[in-house]
Amino acid sequence: MTGSDYRVVIGDSRRMDEVQDGSVHLTVTSPPYPMVAIWDEFFSEASASTYDAMHEYLNQTWKEVERVLAPGGIACINIGDATRTRDGLFHLYPNHSRIIENFEKLGFVTLPYVLWKKPTTKPHYKGKGAFLGSGFLPPNAYVTLDMEYILIFRKGAPRAFQPKDPQRYKSRFTKKERDEWFSQVWDVQGVRQSVDGLERRVAAFPEEIPRRLISMFSILGDVILDPFLGSGTTLKVAMMLGRKCVGYEKQKQMIEIIRQKTGASRARIEFQEQPSGVNAIAA
Ligand SMILES: C[S@@+](CC[C@H](N)C(=O)[O-])C[C@H]1O[C@@H](n2cnc3c(N)ncnc32)[C@H](O)[C@@H]1O
Repeated sequence: MTGSDYRVVIGDSRRMDEVQDGSVHLTVTSPPYPMVAIWDEFFSEASASTYDAMHEYLNQTWKEVERVLAPGGIACINIGDATRTRDGLFHLYPNHSRIIENFEKLGFVTLPYVLWKKPTTKPHYKGKGAFLGSGFLPPNAYVTLDMEYILIFRKGAPRAFQPKDPQRYKSRFTKKERDEWFSQVWDVQGVRQSVDGLERRVAAFPEEIPRRLISMFSILGDVILDPFLGSGTTLKVAMMLGRKCVGYEKQKQMIEIIRQKTGASRARIEFQEQPSGVNAIAA
């Protein structure tokens, strides 16, 4: 594959002018989560830190995802629900259900989703990260949020292929992979706590997540998009699996992290900056 098969646009995925209509086969991404404090700054342009405004921000990217996906293309969105205390009361923010509603409004077909079991999250009590003070006494403790969702949507009817399409046949998975990947609960370790600095702060997902999704929902040579590229995990895995990739990342300082992550393959990545002014999007 040529250099331009791997592109990173430093810019805002709410407008992806650098990507042509219908040119992407699969989107794999984990957006910043509404109602999780570390991501608040990304939603500041949404002018209010309300749940609705944050989802309206993300929805601008989902509209672009719809535009650039080919018919039958698939979008996989890794998202967690969130909790916050408001006016002294515990609140659950079910991001996954809002994203499903928004994709349905954009005309996508919702497919069965995956629950990614993350072993690290602690039990919740009164909105805090643990059973502080509750001991073993009912009834005021909360169920632990130890799952994230991998929502899966398709643009219209399934993709059509020529009979015996050679690229499709070369992309086949094994029976063991099928049995494991196509079950609803995935037990995949998170990114090692020893990963430090920006990669950790950006909440990178483990390579196993895009590895499975790319293998399940695309074929060799397909174009993969990650509109919230972060440290470049999706790009790295797409390169390893013989797919093309385009990613968007707002923070320029991630370039170095992406270069480190992609190692020897980085020479093949074209970095480009979105022209300034393009981010001035009407609300
Ligand atoms: C949860 S992280 C993605 C982590 C990524 N999956 C990885 O493995 O490193 C979300 C990323 O989206 C970026 N981001 C937030 N808003 C953006 C926007 N409008 N356009 C492009 N990138 C954005 C943030 O800078 C952050 O790096």
